Amino acid sequence: MTILVTGGTGYIGSHTCVELLEAGHEVVVLDNLSNSSEKSLERVEALTGKKITFYQGDIRDRHVLDLILEKKYMDCCIHFAGLKAVGESVQKPWEYYDNNITGTLTLVDALRQHGCKNIIFSSSATVYGEPAQIPITEECPKGQCTNPYGWTKSMLEQMLMDIQKADPEWNVVLLRYFNPIGAHPSGTMGENPNGIPNNLMPYITQVAAGRRKELGVFGNDYDTPDGTGVRDYIHVVDLAKGHGKALKKIEEKAGLCIYNLGTGHGYSVLDIIKNFEEVNGISIPYVIKPRRAGDIATCYCDPSKAERELGWKAQYGIREMCADSWNWQKNNPNGYEKNIVKK
Ligand code: NAD
Ligand code: WQD
Repeated sequence: MTILVTGGTGYIGSHTCVELLEAGHEVVVLDNLSNSSEKSLERVEALTGKKITFYQGDIRDRHVLDLILEKKYMDCCIHFAGLKAVGESVQKPWEYYDNNITGTLTLVDALRQHGCKNIIFSSSATVYGEPAQIPITEECPKGQCTNPYGWTKSMLEQMLMDIQKADPEWNVVLLRYFNPIGAHPSGTMGENPNGIPNNLMPYITQVAAGRRKELGVFGNDYDTPDGTGVRDYIHVVDLAKGHGKALKKIEEKAGLCIYNLGTGHGYSVLDIIKNFEEVNGISIPYVIKPRRAGDIATCYCDPSKAERELGWKAQYGIREMCADSWNWQKNNPNGYEKNIVKK
């Protein structure tokens, strides 16, 4: 198949490109590089020995979309492009709604006008809000999101569901990711956050690298075994493989499908620190800080629907996630940019 991958130079998108190329698909990437580097695709090509067609452009730009879609018929779009920083979305809600919602509406309109009614959408566990039950199944009701980023995911899910309902020629797969961490085991690809990391694992790897003094643990008074927040961390390569499986549902013309992509295991912040320290032999100093606004105590999923219907199950454990995260960071202290040599 020929797949249009929006946001394909980003963290999850680039790892998914590896899986798609290895499965024999042709890959066309559209990304505006607002949160990524084109160099990630060089690494993808080096790992797979295959070529990617790359367009630097914005999903809100109808001209660029028409140009890409006129040039080549796309069998499916895997839609990663979006802004994703929770805190920033509270400061800049308009920018988030414009980028994520206007962008997706523009993309979907261009796709259907060019005869592609197949889309796999990057959604998030955040749509469950304060979850009604743990482990979270796909039947759990969606909840109140605590930030504009979360609302964009929740609204886009609804929009895609309504579009599919009105026109059953559409096949829509909504993938609700839990907490992606880790990096390609080769150590050549990984997460490359700008500025101070918001998420736990990139912060830990930067402490390990000596770029930050200590980790702040946001709250130790939650109703969890050790008082710190519990999450369902999933290796990014497992997540990437989930997209390959989701393509099979598109081929089967399955209509609307929704899947949780997680491991089904919950680890606390202290569990992550301990595993990271043991696997990598590096100590991670930390201090307990107040709870972070909007955080919930526990969030992990029941991933059995994806196993039943897609034949997908996460293969990597927490120790591999910790080892691969560090392997990437230590080999690429400046992400995809070459090491800056100070004179
Ligand atoms: P990322 O920032 O690394 O990748 C997103 C990519 O989209 C970036 O390369 C960025 O430059 C691009 N982009 C953003 N707006 C664009 C636009 N208007 N036009 C073209 N390109 C644009 O993030 P990621 O972690 O790889 O996330 C991929 C998707 O998965 C996002 O939609 C994100 O919301 C979703 N998601 C991520 C997580 C997570 O924790 N990483 C969890 C759940 C869902
Ligand atoms: C994990 C745990 C923190 C940083 C976010 C988004 C969610 C999804 C995935 C996109 C929590 C604790 C963190 C730190 C800490 N993204 N923590 N110190 O909040 O579960 O999910 O990313 O869709 O929408 O909200 O992930 O990695 O930020 O936090 O103690 O410096 O680590 O409190 O318990 P989160 P996270």
